[in-house]
Amino acid sequence: MNDLDQLVSAAQADFAAAATPAELENAKARYLGKAGQVTELLKGMGALSHEEKKTRGAEINQTKQRIESLLTERRQALAEAELQAQLKAESLDVSLPGRQHGMGGLHPVSRTMERIEAIFGSMGFEVADGPEIEEDWFNFTALNTPADHPARSMHDTFYVDTQAPDGSGHLLRTHTSPMQVRHAVQHVKRHAAALAAGQAMPEIRVIAPGRTYRVDSDATHSPMFHQCEGLWIGENVSFKDLKAVFADFFRNFFETDDLEIRFRPSFFPFTEPSAEVDIAFASGPLKGRWLEVAGSGQVHPNVVRNFGLDPERYIGFAFGMGPDRLTMLRYGVNDLRLFFDGDLRFLSQFR
Ligand code: PHE
Repeated sequence: MNDLDQLVSAAQADFAAAATPAELENAKARYLGKAGQVTELLKGMGALSHEEKKTRGAEINQTKQRIESLLTERRQALAEAELQAQLKAESLDVSLPGRQHGMGGLHPVSRTMERIEAIFGSMGFEVADGPEIEEDWFNFTALNTPADHPARSMHDTFYVDTQAPDGSGHLLRTHTSPMQVRHAVQHVKRHAAALAAGQAMPEIRVIAPGRTYRVDSDATHSPMFHQCEGLWIGENVSFKDLKAVFADFFRNFFETDDLEIRFRPSFFPFTEPSAEVDIAFASGPLKGRWLEVAGSGQVHPNVVRNFGLDPERYIGFAFGMGPDRLTMLRYGVNDLRLFFDGDLRFLSQFR
């Protein structure tokens, strides 16, 4: 092996040892750079005779070409390796399972609200909505509960501003009953012409579900809770209609006919007579236990008057029930606070 062949072998080994393009360029400089071994050989040609220049020159040029082509080969190999490494690093594993998108769901109490609206809707009840910051007048006074009425102290109230004696103050509504007055007044306004002409007014049949507030907090009471008001006023609406509506509603809501309903005498300033409504299941874990689910009664004549109607002609009933309680019964939940803690481990079970 002559010196030139050795030079080619050395270059080949050097190039092969270069692991990166930068190392390869360094190796190239050692042979083909300004002070590289091949360049030095070419520089040394000046000292040779004319004949020697011819043969030696051709050999050196050949050597240079061989080294250059080895360099190109190695450059391509390194570029290819780099590409492969990059492809490997960025590879997609198409067999991996896809990412799940969380599906939202309705809050259990919202589900109950929707059920209540659907069932009462099927019985011809409209759905009304009203303010949670309520006027003293609608929350108490118009409901036959004047400022000095002792029944006001049954509601531990969140007052928003100082209570004026004329009932113009504001508070977080303690029940949905103010919606009785708000809705009935609107209804009477809409039918004012017929009423003035002594004609019959279409019946008021409405429910008003929504949030209510009292200063109260334990396993079965939350300072914010839900109620659903009901009101049915006509010329001949009686307690037997109330009982039929409740029987229909609760049997539908709990999807069972094995359910008893009991009216227990009670007191509310805005109904007379008044009754608490209890239900009892004939089977299941709560079998035979009376559970309080609503307050109700025949609307007091003073309240009917505040609707703008003649209590001698218009009569009917109202009720207020607790959708939170109904949700607990339906799903077997024993702590009301779970509904309002916002813990997804609990809530996602109802999706
Ligand atoms: N508003 C009453 C309460 O919150 C319930 C009720 C509504 C009673 C309508 C009678 C008629 O306790």
